[in-house]
Amino acid sequence: MTNRSRRWRLAVVATGLSALALLVAGCGPDNGQNSLRPTGEQAKQIDDLIVPIFGVAIVVAILVGIATVYCAIRFRARPGREDRPKQIHGNTAVEIGWTLIPAVILAVIAVPTVSLIFKLSEPPAANAVEVTAVGKQWWWQFDVTEKGEKKVVVADEFHVPVNRDVHMTLTACDPSLGTRPTGGCNVIHSFWVPELIGKRDVIPGHRNELTFRAEKTGTYLGQCAEYCGLSHANMRFRVIVDSEDDYQDWIDGQREGPAVALADSGEAGKLFAQKYACTNCHTTEDSSLSVYGPNLTHLASRSVFASGYYKLTRANLIDWILNAPSMIPMESKECRLPPGPDNICVGMPSFVENTPPGYPTMTRDEATTIADYLLELK
Ligand code: CUA
Repeated sequence: MTNRSRRWRLAVVATGLSALALLVAGCGPDNGQNSLRPTGEQAKQIDDLIVPIFGVAIVVAILVGIATVYCAIRFRARPGREDRPKQIHGNTAVEIGWTLIPAVILAVIAVPTVSLIFKLSEPPAANAVEVTAVGKQWWWQFDVTEKGEKKVVVADEFHVPVNRDVHMTLTACDPSLGTRPTGGCNVIHSFWVPELIGKRDVIPGHRNELTFRAEKTGTYLGQCAEYCGLSHANMRFRVIVDSEDDYQDWIDGQREGPAVALADSGEAGKLFAQKYACTNCHTTEDSSLSVYGPNLTHLASRSVFASGYYKLTRANLIDWILNAPSMIPMESKECRLPPGPDNICVGMPSFVENTPPGYPTMTRDEATTIADYLLELK
């Protein structure tokens, strides 16, 4: 076999394998983030736009592909053929044709696209649930409220009722914490729940809005979709779509005070509030407060924690309290507690490695005591 034909065969095999890998990648287990399987009203409208446009794109791709392969074979260099194929540069008919055809296709696509952009920004129904999503490095805070009701501040997951508009306000600044980096006013994130609604940027100093309406109960996985630093890939969240009754139960429960008051939590309370000063960044006492870290007043009612990355289990929680940066990369090595204008503290510190100055090393028994207290906070 000549070198040339060997190279050809290699190229064909490599192309085939790449195509197969691409195909197989689409057959993985359901990851719950399939924007081609929309279950929200707005996500369906977006899908209805994508499908026909994708159809047009496939036809164009096939025609261009056929033309390219045809030209490459028909006009290839061959021994004994020195003349160049007929040149068509400057041919008016061809130039006008290949300018006009794409322009017409794009103009036709623009009509439904622009009209859907306007449709998606229509104001929500009067009975909409209001949710403010605050993107932080690297977790999401959600303030859930309805007209005139006290807001509920949660992290990593929030509940909404099925078949009711959810009006999202998206921000990367928590106004109640000022504009310091520690207040979560830092970089751009993007809110995305592929099966419910398309992505939208979350920008410091700017309010973006979004309305979605889920049509089926269930758990929907969301993800930060804008690179925002070290743990961008771990910045997940969940939207839990409940029946109207289940949602009411959830929000009523969240509005209540803690199941166990800090003052009544004995040894755990001393560790949490004094020895390790967890209360500098977290609250377990008031579900309507925004604080530096996730509001933990009803932590035990959540299915996940740690930016939605870990299931909320006793073992995970103990490991997290001891050494969170070993479970999710965080910039907390420079962390100096409490956070202040010069103390940029992104993420949980480790209480066993590089322990923040002034803090003792935490024992596993102490972490267990704190975890057991937090797990009582239903
Ligand atoms: Cu937040 Cu990426």
